[in-house]
Amino acid sequence: MSTFAKDIDQGLSASNKHTSSKYFYDDKGSQIFQQIMDMPEYYLTNSEYEILETQSKEIFEALAFDGHFNIVELGAGDGLKTNKLLTYLVHQKVDFTYIPVDISEGAMVELQNKLLNKLPELSIQPLVGDYFEVLEEEMGAKNSNSLFLFLGSNIGNYDETEAVNLLQMFNSYMKPKDKLLIGIDLKKNPHTIKKAYDDDQGITRSFNLNLLERINRELGGDFQIENFDFYSTYNPQNGEVRSYLISLKDQKVYVDALKKEFDFAANELIATELSKKYSLPEIEGLASASGFQFQNHFLDTRKYFADSLWVK
Ligand code: AVJ
Repeated sequence: MSTFAKDIDQGLSASNKHTSSKYFYDDKGSQIFQQIMDMPEYYLTNSEYEILETQSKEIFEALAFDGHFNIVELGAGDGLKTNKLLTYLVHQKVDFTYIPVDISEGAMVELQNKLLNKLPELSIQPLVGDYFEVLEEEMGAKNSNSLFLFLGSNIGNYDETEAVNLLQMFNSYMKPKDKLLIGIDLKKNPHTIKKAYDDDQGITRSFNLNLLERINRELGGDFQIENFDFYSTYNPQNGEVRSYLISLKDQKVYVDALKKEFDFAANELIATELSKKYSLPEIEGLASASGFQFQNHFLDTRKYFADSLWVK
């Protein structure tokens, strides 16, 4: 049985039903996420883009590596954010190799083609696979220093304990003086955050419902999508956006791959995602809890988002 099937079984059998947000991203889910990134409400995209566009020079100067270095991007996806930084470095004739890492082979082929088309002199070496497998296999062999990139506020999907575990794991694959540039969404006016995760067009709603459709497609489920609603809430005190699907009635759903029927009560929730927001001091605390030394924050003009630079 696939890990997806096992995880869905476990999550929907629990007394507080839940699913992992990593399963949002099948082909259709990735397309919907692209639409989310294009929405004006989803300020995260533009904020981080602005930072990398306007502060590439400052970021490069803060690295202070000597000689050749690697830029290892964890979860590179379409790599559009990184484009600006890479363009700056190539134009400055900086000696570096870009190593995008992603689980999607298609995304890596497309990214390589797009980048080499724009920047033929770029040294690029994409790696396809799970972060940890790839880091385990590849990082031991590198003798120059590396800048790790973990952008887009992906860390927000992890609760505090999981975040520290993940970052400690990254840390364990890094050499002394290696650096991590991590993109983190900041606490701000709660209205702004709430809107980013509950847009009026219903794009975020279909992003969440697609997970049930994915279970139907891949695991032979018989979810009736119209019997579920979407709900998202932001708690400004702990910085947590929590997203849910709600069962609109008492219903049973059969999943063929699991040979199992799941009971949903009216108004029962499935927790689908955490998107955690941080303050600057909290980010600095996260750095030290994960074995890093905080070096510098790069912010956009609205102070909505931070790309924070940490040293191993
Ligand atoms: C890709 C995890 C950064 O949490 O902001 C967007 C995913 N979920 N809208 C986020 C997402 C709902 C996104 N990350």
